[in-house]
Amino acid sequence: MDLGAAIRGRHVLVTGASSGLGRHFAELCGRNGARVTVAARRRDRLEDVVAELRRLGAAGAQAVDLDVADSASVAAALDEAGRLGPLDIVVNNAGVSEGRPALDVDEGLYDNVVDTNLKGVWLVSTGAARRWRDAKRPGVIVNIASILGLGVTGSVSVYAATKAAVIQMTAAHALEWARFGIRVNALAPGYIETEMNAAFFASEPGQAMIRRIPTRRLGRPADLDGAFLLLATDASSWMTGSCIAVDGGHLVSAL
Ligand SMILES: NC(=O)c1ccc[n+]([C@@H]2O[C@H](COP(=O)([O-])OP(=O)(O)OC[C@H]3O[C@@H](n4cnc5c(N)ncnc54)[C@H](OP(=O)(O)O)[C@@H]3O)[C@@H](O)[C@H]2O)c1
Repeated sequence: MDLGAAIRGRHVLVTGASSGLGRHFAELCGRNGARVTVAARRRDRLEDVVAELRRLGAAGAQAVDLDVADSASVAAALDEAGRLGPLDIVVNNAGVSEGRPALDVDEGLYDNVVDTNLKGVWLVSTGAARRWRDAKRPGVIVNIASILGLGVTGSVSVYAATKAAVIQMTAAHALEWARFGIRVNALAPGYIETEMNAAFFASEPGQAMIRRIPTRRLGRPADLDGAFLLLATDASSWMTGSCIAVDGGHLVSAL
């Protein structure tokens, strides 16, 4: 199956599309002829992404303001997304990390990581699924988890806990929503260089971590394309509740 062709004409909502992997996923969909709604808090950045999507030949492109941790903002964004027609695919990509030891995390930082990474996935997923169920339409959800939902390292205790919870929520939503024709899967990337982690990978501990990846390099956003398109399209029509790790072998590195 041509995975790029499989997304043509579909309407995809990507949260956290103002930078990094979210922007990459949005452009991947747009380049292959999808209609793309990009959502995040930084509107100026989203407008740049929309301009690029039009240049790439997307079948439609629009930006909507979204704070995934705010239920009113999520509801408004899901309504506004409808300007490009009903959604077919929702990509829960927005995420933040604390990047400091557990004993240095205060309550405000904890709340921000949990509200963005977990409550945000819950709000966007349930909002989209309710709309699909009520409209008797099928739908696809791709949750961007992390290999830190499957293993741990230092300075990301809250982040890792939220990503493990997202993987479990993926399975639970898949179980409940299969009857509505809604599939829910997770993609767990390994270390891909983006704004979220560029400073870390420039440091000596970051370089040491790269040496522990069996393939001895960071991932590039495009390394995720095959798994992303698989999960987002009918190529995975009998997959739901799954989590695919794409990590250069990091999870199987030697003890
Ligand atoms: N890079 C990696 O190595 C890696 C590995 C595994 C998993 N991931 C996951 O991939 C996803 C994207 O990460 P990234 O590396 O691309 O990071 P990034 O460049 O920092 O992008 C994070 C995105 O999330 C958005 N965001 C943050 N809080 C938000 C909120 N409350 N509401 C809406 N959007 C919000 C940001 O947009 P605004 O600030 O404009 O709102 C931004 O577009 C995350 O879920 C991350 O956990 C990344």
